[in-house]
Amino acid sequence: MKIQKLHMEDWLADHQSVQYNLAESGFNDFSVGELLTLCDEDPAHLGNISLMNPDTRGSLGLRREILQCYQSAVIENILVTVGVTEALFAFFNVILEPGDEVIVEFPEFQTLYELPKALDCNIKFINLVTGNGFLPEPKNIRELITPKTKLIIINNPHNPTGSVLDRAEILEIGKIARENDVYLLFDEHYKFLPLEEGTRQLTSGFDICREVHHKVAAVGSVTKCFGLNGLRVGWLLADPQIIEACREFKHYLTHVTPPICDYLAERALQNKEKIIAHVKHIILKNLEHLNSFMERNQNRFEYTPPRGGLVCFPKLKNGQDGASFCRDMLNKHNISLLPGEVFGMNPYFRLNIGVKSDAFAAALQAMENL
Ligand SMILES: Cc1ncc(COP(=O)(O)O)c(C=O)c1O
Repeated sequence: MKIQKLHMEDWLADHQSVQYNLAESGFNDFSVGELLTLCDEDPAHLGNISLMNPDTRGSLGLRREILQCYQSAVIENILVTVGVTEALFAFFNVILEPGDEVIVEFPEFQTLYELPKALDCNIKFINLVTGNGFLPEPKNIRELITPKTKLIIINNPHNPTGSVLDRAEILEIGKIARENDVYLLFDEHYKFLPLEEGTRQLTSGFDICREVHHKVAAVGSVTKCFGLNGLRVGWLLADPQIIEACREFKHYLTHVTPPICDYLAERALQNKEKIIAHVKHIILKNLEHLNSFMERNQNRFEYTPPRGGLVCFPKLKNGQDGASFCRDMLNKHNISLLPGEVFGMNPYFRLNIGVKSDAFAAALQAMENL
């Protein structure tokens, strides 16, 4: 298997320790101590975690907590993985064959098209445009489908644009998948963070589309939305036969999730209301700041406010080059923004609203003065 490098990784690795890191895609990280405090958990319990290999599906306790996040899933629909990447890797390997066509949005988190491409599939892109709030149009999906189409991938909320499909739009895509008998995969890494005040987690495409189509799968995670990026716990939701096949595939990969990560992910999900309330308090304040910054700077940036997740994707006006803008921000102000070129979209940059409020405000101030 030959695979392209993940373009964003060099930039993220090289600029991890800048003063204001707004290039990442997760919420500012908690320490283990902070997480346990938020969960009212006695740190002494950490000492009791057994280091035996847990069930390769993930511990029963963690799978039960994941189940609580969905309406129509049963425990046999769940496989815990090391990061969402492993869930994607196993799922693609199980369902895709060389020559299959895969429909995926553009711009997009690179793994979602690079892995199918590495499996010799042909990729067809649904172009997302600002005028439509970066949402995939059902009519465009229909136009791309051929008898060779095997899979449609929808990333919702979307990285890097922050767009969110509503229930009716998701159902419409589900119906298209059913009519054409193709698999539908929802990447819902940011499911826990709709950005409307008061809205709790988003209903999964798995729950919405299972009403009309059985070839539906979803991936989710406890890392980015909960500020636990290094925990590397993700999951796949799919039909039990697919889950079993992915589990067999996973036996050749990480085999099990480390017990400490499994334990902390279970605690985090048990306390999801509290943790997400904490995260949302910070990011909604940052978003308010960002919206007024963008209002004041309309002449410099074309901006679609994010509706879910932690990132948005402003465009530079006046033909300015995204990469040189990001380098300027870095060199003059110690601020890291992710250049849009890593998504194949040069005049854009990705900006994370999940950083501490004082750092976020200071970074915006510096951008205003550039
Ligand atoms: C949409 C999306 N899918 C998948 C991944 C990979 O997830 P993980 O880091 O949990 O492997 C990411 C990571 O940024 C992402 O943004």
